[in-house]
Amino acid sequence: MPRAAGDQDMMIPSMMTDETTLPAKNRLSGVPVHVGVIMDGNGRWAAKRGLPRIEGHRRGLEALRETVRTAIDVGLDYLTVYSFSMENWNRPVEEVADLMGLLKRFIRNDLNELHKSGVKVKVIGARDNLKADIRALLHEAEDLTRANTRLTLIVAFNYGSRQEIAAAARALALEVVAGRIKATEIDETLLSGHLDTAGIPDPDLIIRTSGEQRLSNFLMWQAAYTEFVFLPVHWPDFDRQAFTAALAEFSARERRFGGVTGQCRNGKVLTGTTQK
Ligand code: FPP
Repeated sequence: MPRAAGDQDMMIPSMMTDETTLPAKNRLSGVPVHVGVIMDGNGRWAAKRGLPRIEGHRRGLEALRETVRTAIDVGLDYLTVYSFSMENWNRPVEEVADLMGLLKRFIRNDLNELHKSGVKVKVIGARDNLKADIRALLHEAEDLTRANTRLTLIVAFNYGSRQEIAAAARALALEVVAGRIKATEIDETLLSGHLDTAGIPDPDLIIRTSGEQRLSNFLMWQAAYTEFVFLPVHWPDFDRQAFTAALAEFSARERRFGGVTGQCRNGKVLTGTTQK
C-alpha cells in the first residue's frame, strides 16, 4: 500500500531507521559531494553473451545495488542515476515494460534495505504519464525515506534535461503572468530553484559507462562545471573497483570553475577539492 504523508509513526519497527545506530558517516578524502551516473551498455553487455537485452538490464540492476553500497561506504552525499530517459519510450514496448518492471522490482525488493541504510530516495523526472502503480511506488519510496541523511539516491526516471528546463521556464512564466515575480527578476538562482533538482548541489562528477562520450539529455543545466569520466566497461560490469578508480581520477583533477587556481574574488580559494 502506498504510504501517505505523515504515516511514519505507524511504521513497523523493522521499517524504522535510526541513523544513530549506523557507523558514523565519513566522506573519504577526495570523494566528491555528488556523483551522477549514466548507466549505459546493458544491451551490448547482453548481446556479447548472446542473451536477451532484459538480462543486461537485470545485471545492470545488480551493478546499481553495488554502486549504492559503494557510495555509502565512501561517504558520498548524493548519487544520481539515469535509469530511464524520456527518449527511452522510443524503445520496443517489451523493453519499456521490462524497464518499468525492474523499477518496480528495485523499489519493492530494496526499499526496506535502503531505508535501514539511511538512504533518502528522491525521484526526478515527469510523473504524469507513468502508470498509477509506479507513481504510487515512487511516492512511497520518497515518503518512507524522507528523513534519512546518509546518502541521497536520486533516481532520474522518465527524466529529460531539456524538458525539465522547459518546465521550469513555463512555471516562471506563469508566476510572471500571475504577478508574483517580475520577468527582470528571473536569474540563474530562480531558474535552478524551479528544476527537479532544486536544493541539490550540482554534480561534481558524472560517470558514463560503455565508451560513449555524451550527456544524452542528463542534468545539462546542472553539469555546467561537472567533471566527466568515461569508462569503456558496460554498465553490468561496473563494480566497486571501477567506481573507486573513477573517484580517484576525479580527485586528481583541478577544478577552476572559470577562475584561476589559488585566486578567487568571492573569498573562496579554489584548490581542486569540492566545496559543498
Ligand atoms: C542504457 O543501456 C541503460 C538503460 C536505458 C536502463 C538502465 C537501467 C538499469 C541499469 C537497471 C536498473 C533499472 C531501474 C529502472 C532502477 P542500453 O540498454 O542503452 O545499452 P546499449 O546502449 O548497449 O543498448
